[in-house]
Amino acid sequence: MTKVFAVNGSPTMEKGDTALLLNVFLQGMEDAGADAALHYASKLDLKPCSCGQMYCWYQNPGECCVQDEFQTLYPSLKASDILVLATPVYIPLPGRMQDVMNRLCPLIKPKLAFREGRTRAESHSAFNIKKIVLVSVGGWWELENFDTVVRIVRDFSETAGVEFSGPVLRPHSFLMYDETGMTAAGTAVLEAARKAGHQLVAEGSIDSETLAAISRPLVPEAELRARYNKAIERFPK
Ligand SMILES: Cc1cc2nc3c(=O)[nH]c(=O)nc-3n(C[C@H](O)[C@H](O)[C@H](O)COP(=O)(O)O)c2cc1C
Repeated sequence: MTKVFAVNGSPTMEKGDTALLLNVFLQGMEDAGADAALHYASKLDLKPCSCGQMYCWYQNPGECCVQDEFQTLYPSLKASDILVLATPVYIPLPGRMQDVMNRLCPLIKPKLAFREGRTRAESHSAFNIKKIVLVSVGGWWELENFDTVVRIVRDFSETAGVEFSGPVLRPHSFLMYDETGMTAAGTAVLEAARKAGHQLVAEGSIDSETLAAISRPLVPEAELRARYNKAIERFPK
């Protein structure tokens, strides 16, 4: 059975748009037979990485020296096939998500190679992770707004020698619903996200049409911008 380790890095946890998108994605994975464990970065008693000596690379490879609740998660992380990192765009990441990413450093074995013009490493044999996927939401209109977050997770994956299974991105995510609940367009987005999770487990990848259906514009750019600009009119300066 495919084992999935998922982290929701949103400070709003279950109530946020990150959860809305991530939960259906994980549901799709489970429908395809995966076993998914979901963790909230903000619920963990998490200390920042403080081992400047690269303990997890050169002193005790594959092991983290920081003693906190994240230690209890390493056995499950090591046994997982797919790592799902879910986060809102937060210029660029919520702090707790960055803390989690630093704690993924033991996954990397620093046996260096020069691949396509970049210094890269490989994954440590203690970890089984074969794919990393990013699930992300943001408030603004265009997909380029996710570039920094995508680059962070793609770069981490490529440095670890693990397949980056694609960014699952939902811009202006708050337009998936209104005062009355989910809109028809929002429901279609979530259905596509569920399909994406299913595809990743059942077929090994997510097709580009499904990714596009998750990310498609819900309003024209000018309309969204006007809406944001109207919201600040009530502030005197
Ligand atoms: C500190 C901060 C920085 C943000 N930066 C961006 C940004 O650069 N681009 C963007 O599209 N949204 C940005 N947002 C909006 C969030 O991505 C958006 O509100 C998202 O829905 C929050 O996730 P959540 O619903 O899971 O809490 C930012 C929000 C905060 C609080």
